[in-house]
Amino acid sequence: MSVQPILDKFIEDEKKQIDRLLPNFINELKAPASLKEAMIYSLEAGGKRVRPILLLATLKGFRQPLTNGYDVACALEMIHTYSLIHDDLPAMDDDDLRRGKPTNHKVFGEALAILAGDGLLTYSFQLIAGLDYLSADKKVSVIGKIAAASGPTGMVGGQVEDMEGEDQLLDVEQLQHIHHRKTGDLLSVALECGAILSSATKTETKELKLFGKHLGIAFQIKDDLLDVEGDEDKIGKPVGSDETNNKTTYPKVLGMEGAKEKLSFHLSSAKNHLNNVEIDKDILLGLVDYIGSRTS
Ligand code: IPE
Ligand code: IPE
Ligand code: MG
Ligand code: MG
Ligand code: MG
Repeated sequence: MSVQPILDKFIEDEKKQIDRLLPNFINELKAPASLKEAMIYSLEAGGKRVRPILLLATLKGFRQPLTNGYDVACALEMIHTYSLIHDDLPAMDDDDLRRGKPTNHKVFGEALAILAGDGLLTYSFQLIAGLDYLSADKKVSVIGKIAAASGPTGMVGGQVEDMEGEDQLLDVEQLQHIHHRKTGDLLSVALECGAILSSATKTETKELKLFGKHLGIAFQIKDDLLDVEGDEDKIGKPVGSDETNNKTTYPKVLGMEGAKEKLSFHLSSAKNHLNNVEIDKDILLGLVDYIGSRTS
């Protein structure tokens, strides 16, 4: 039987769960109403919820109850959402549209947008630290991995390199390094968290991380392609932002066809690593194709 209907249902059901849970965390906080409103605005604006879905698909692969993953999955989505709020700021990509809505700073002003991002980032760790159903060891491990993937050695470092690479001619190696850091690390850590929560072995975890690494690079190559040939109504953000900011992207360095070849290479490499792990992998494999062919 085709895996497609099972995959579609998994994505739909889990996206719904994440959409429902995210605002509840923030609503409950004793924090200024304006701050909560700005945080919830970007969380509720939509988004594909790819990182949470990857974490949950890993748990499913290990036949673990998904209930063990929702909180960490939401924490990851909060960090991702913070990264988008800051990425759109005038000092960075200066974009006005995100997830089909005006960007956070357009609605709430720059100061509150920066603080909403700060709030989502720090609260995500508070959320994980407070989970009573995870052992202290697992919490420290998950927190440490997520911090490394999203901080100076990961996404934040990659964003700096992306920014410093504006107006420069980078080669594919340098570009791959940037894509891995700014986007790949956070995708990869979703898999790694799924592995930690499932008490996976070292070898399984290593292969899943490599799977995530290639998937993450592929994800950002596709993002670069959509910035050129995507449909604004579907991607929910401006087309041509990279061109405006003089970013070095895969299409710029390799051309559209070359970028598409690289995309296929990283998607196949991802699958090869996944095939080295003995888990139920239909959904994860399906997600690779979903990421490669997405239009939003
Ligand atoms: C956009 O991420 C930024 C990148 C890291 C490429 P997504 O494409 O996952 O954005 P949402 O969450 O669906 O809005
Ligand atoms: C940003 O890459 C990746 C992040 C860490 C937010 P982009 O700048 O290409 O992301 P989009 O296209 O604005 O979503
Ligand atoms: Mg950017
Ligand atoms: Mg951007
Ligand atoms: Mg982009």
